[in-house]
Amino acid sequence: MNTVEIINKKKYGEVLSYDEIKHVITGYVEGNIPDYQVSSLLMAIYFNGLTNQETSDLTEIMVNSGDQIDMSFLNTIVVDKHSTGGVGDKVSLIVAPIIASLGIPFAKMSGRGLGHTGGTVDKLESIKGFHTELPLDTFKEQVKEHGIALVGQSGNLVPADKKLYALRDVTGTVDSIPLIASSIMSKKIASGADSIVLDIKVGNGAFMKTVEEAEKLATAMVEIGKKLDRETVAVLTRMDQPLGDEVGNANEVIEAIKLLRDSDYSKDIYDVSVEIASQMVLLAKKASTIEEARSLVSDVIANGTAYKKLVEFVEAQDGDITSVNELKVKQSIDVLSDEEGYYASVNTQAIGEAAMLLGAGRETKEDQIDHQVGITFHVKLGDAIKKGDKIATIHTNKQNNDEVIQKIKKAMTYTTEAVESKDSVIKIIK
Ligand code: URA
Repeated sequence: MNTVEIINKKKYGEVLSYDEIKHVITGYVEGNIPDYQVSSLLMAIYFNGLTNQETSDLTEIMVNSGDQIDMSFLNTIVVDKHSTGGVGDKVSLIVAPIIASLGIPFAKMSGRGLGHTGGTVDKLESIKGFHTELPLDTFKEQVKEHGIALVGQSGNLVPADKKLYALRDVTGTVDSIPLIASSIMSKKIASGADSIVLDIKVGNGAFMKTVEEAEKLATAMVEIGKKLDRETVAVLTRMDQPLGDEVGNANEVIEAIKLLRDSDYSKDIYDVSVEIASQMVLLAKKASTIEEARSLVSDVIANGTAYKKLVEFVEAQDGDITSVNELKVKQSIDVLSDEEGYYASVNTQAIGEAAMLLGAGRETKEDQIDHQVGITFHVKLGDAIKKGDKIATIHTNKQNNDEVIQKIKKAMTYTTEAVESKDSVIKIIK
């Protein structure tokens, strides 16, 4: 097969066959096709797109490029979740023990944070002793025994995505819907998911800035699921302010604990967590209606069963949950409002960047993060705020925090007219 002809076909907007896509992807993974030819094809895909069939073919070929985890020994439907990433997104920490406490295995491989968004593995590593790397056999045994395990991505899962993503990153081809959809879905399928719930974040703190873009991504992924026989539901959720009150690592774990142990939470993080968990319960066939699923989920939060499961999970991975009861930082500094009015908007990405400046996130994969630092917000969009009100508190180990404080203040805007608060769950696509 001729690689240049395949590039030309896509350049002219023609549809590629399974074998043509396979030729390029396997040739690239094996080192027989160079970066420059794949870059060129990626750019042609960026401009001309892929059909649903091409996107699912690409996904299947990517899945087959490496190892696949077989979870069939559980003899049940394995449901996974994925978030497209946001600021303050601790939903996995909350949903994992909820799902496991309902007898649905939760076996997840999670990512680390990069840029302004955080990663579940980093958050869990703020718990003293917690191991995020487990040999595959131990991971499986833990799921069998405790019904729950959460580790970092490792091994040879979807090597095609590792190579393609690195290339997309430096060739301006990350923001292509079929490429994002196949990248995410291939990793979920390779890690053993039968059914998948996608939390697609929408807003100024997310990859997808508008509902229209998010719908396109959601539909592309749901279609892949249909073609590859993995029931997939996408939940579009708002990311136009940090989710919940905490942005960081240890402080986000504390927030998850407070929600599960004390029923102490902000409405947005509760609503999103309950919706994602309920959709998972439905896909696992543990409820026949979404109302029934929601009632099961809210019960295990309210009666403490989910919190007990969280403690069991942390202990199974050698963590000491009591180690995160308090932040160990040099200082916590309140940020006071210089303005007055209704809190109308926030540049959420700038908040993620402010947390990164404190050391809570990393700019490059090699950067070390400080798990203890972060930001607590005391206000949500729509709140009436007076001059001098405490809007946030930064937890920091740095001497000079002026830049961070100014960044937070500058990110927030106020109006004189009352602002209507919006539901955090926007819509479901299946
Ligand atoms: N996350 C992924 O895993 N892949 C993408 O392409 C984009 C976001």
